[in-house]
Amino acid sequence: MRAFFKKIILKFFRFFGIKLQGTIVKRIVVESEVSEKAKIHGDYTIRKSKIGDYTYISQNSHLSMTQIGKFCSIGPNLMSGWGIHPVSAVSTSPMFYSTMKQNGFSLVTQNKIEEQKPIIIGNDVFIGMNVIILDGLTIGDGAIIGAGSVVVKDVAPYEIVAGNPAKVIKKRFSDDIIDRLLVSKWWDKDLEGLKLIEKYFFEVETFLNEVEELGDT
Ligand SMILES: CC(C)(COP(=O)(O)OP(=O)(O)OC[C@H]1O[C@@H](n2cnc3c(N)ncnc32)[C@H](O)[C@@H]1OP(=O)(O)O)[C@@H](O)C(=O)NCCC(=O)NCCS
Repeated sequence: MRAFFKKIILKFFRFFGIKLQGTIVKRIVVESEVSEKAKIHGDYTIRKSKIGDYTYISQNSHLSMTQIGKFCSIGPNLMSGWGIHPVSAVSTSPMFYSTMKQNGFSLVTQNKIEEQKPIIIGNDVFIGMNVIILDGLTIGDGAIIGAGSVVVKDVAPYEIVAGNPAKVIKKRFSDDIIDRLLVSKWWDKDLEGLKLIEKYFFEVETFLNEVEELGDT
């Protein structure tokens, strides 16, 4: 009987030109705002989150209470914001502190802790593959998180962090250039303004001079 239904479902997808290679793709979006100009690949869970324009997220990423800005590049297997367990109570099991029944049971009528804290990821952030970001953190504009990192502290704008726990390995630019990039807020410009980035891609200073000369566009 199950095989029969599977066959029917596969036929249905094939009819619309969707080729499923043995597995069903799981795409879960709950109480979230995903820009029409953003792209999310493969399997994913996006829960209570917000994804900005021109950001892409690679396959098998699972986000909860995570706000992501514009132009972010996110590698596969990002795990962001899956909750907090108390470390100094008798137990770490949510059965004793949460009404959410994670294990199917709860002994409380009121939550005892704040189980989730929002994560804020700025604009133009590059997150390598296999990264974990813990609850409540802020990743500044232009930051880079190296492959395989576990981020346990806030990351300042244009810092490059890597490792477990993630530590600063360098900054992308001098403090002066970073300040000017942050003031430029180039990610809020219209498509015409964005063409300057393509034009001066490796000439950061020339790009900034041009943007500063043009003022608001
Ligand atoms: C973080 C990253 C961008 C840094 O690149 P980079 O500026 O060329 O850095 P370097 O190779 O000069 O490394 C600088 C130092 O950081 C260390 N480092 C770099 N990446 C690291 C990482 N992911 N984890 C731990 N340490 C790392 C290097 O070992 C080196 O340490 P050392 O100075 O003690 O020798 C890059 O290493 C990275 O992780 N990129 C992600 C790639 C990826 O996930 N691609 C898929 C995209 S979808």
